[in-house]
Amino acid sequence: MGSSEIRSQSGAGQATVAAGINIALVKYWGKAPGTDNRPSVGSLSLTLDAPGTETTVRFDAALPADTFVLDGLPAPVAPVTKVLDDVRRLAGETRRAAVTSRNTVPTAAGLASSASGFAALGLAAWHAAGLGDPGTPLDRRLVELVRRGSGSAPRSLLPGFARIDVETAGVEGVPAPPEFDVSLVIALCAVGPKAVKSRDGMAASAETSPYYPAWVSSHPADLAAGEAAVRAGDFGALGEVMEHSTLKMHACMLATRPPLRYWTPGTLAALDALGALHALGRVFTTMDAGPHVKALCRRADEAVVAETLRPVAREVLIARPGDGARLVEPKAAR
Ligand code: ADP
Ligand code: DP6
Repeated sequence: MGSSEIRSQSGAGQATVAAGINIALVKYWGKAPGTDNRPSVGSLSLTLDAPGTETTVRFDAALPADTFVLDGLPAPVAPVTKVLDDVRRLAGETRRAAVTSRNTVPTAAGLASSASGFAALGLAAWHAAGLGDPGTPLDRRLVELVRRGSGSAPRSLLPGFARIDVETAGVEGVPAPPEFDVSLVIALCAVGPKAVKSRDGMAASAETSPYYPAWVSSHPADLAAGEAAVRAGDFGALGEVMEHSTLKMHACMLATRPPLRYWTPGTLAALDALGALHALGRVFTTMDAGPHVKALCRRADEAVVAETLRPVAREVLIARPGDGARLVEPKAAR
């Protein structure tokens, strides 16, 4: 028996990790050629305190196959097994795993469940396999296996503002001044899963949208401007480039064949409701591959933004910068 096998058999074999969703301020839309789920553009995001995911991974020698239960129901296990296989390879772990997960975020609805889901899964499997503290900066192997699950997920490993670099596909934190207090107010504008998953939508845009090359070539300037705005604590500059990035991404989506239109009447109602506050520069909006509106404001304005959205939204959530993926059980390491 090799040393790695001895370690895996004697390790705790179980870990629970919680992770918040993250919302991109400068968006990722498109993959680099190849099979490793590397992005074609970088991104800048904000990890939130909630909603998110809590996941437990338990390696068990008695299991004939991996199992995955999401919100109390059996769910497709193949994407989970891919992440577990990566971890098993690194740790010399041979056991199958029982994975249970709870999303406080709606699943596959354009609210980034894949980001909190794969960040929580990857880090829980990492700890359950006895791979230890992933360190600061994060162990590159953890970032890569989480990214293979979902391109936006590495950002949920980190607290607050995070940036993915297009050249390295690595993720790093972007420090903001301590007084830079922002909130993201999320207006849920429809129910149910989105019609086209991000992965399929990205492939279709790259293949058919005449705006895709312009999206890719104009992206680095937005990322640089967004990062500079975070570092300077410049709310107006961050909001302006955030809106530019989201509208360019949706233009690229709309020009895809067949078109990707993720907005609903509820999306426009939310944008219109925020018109007066927007004109004053007190709120800026972003939308992902789904109908929901995420409104960036200063902490002091979160209540008025939420009140403004409530009459036109199905539900309104107030989120603040969060901690990133963290070990819940066992308590010792990160
Ligand atoms: P979203 O907008 O919610 O990110 P996606 O279609 O991009 O939607 O991703 C949804 C996919 O993410 C699900 O089909 C599932 O594979 C994965 N996912 C969601 N929640 C979890 C979870 N808690 N654990 C593992 N994978 C998850
Ligand atoms: C519009 O990370 O969900 O939310 O890598 O295929 O899993 P996969 O895609 P995913 O796409 C996120 C797209 C986005 C923008 C963003 O979060 O940057």
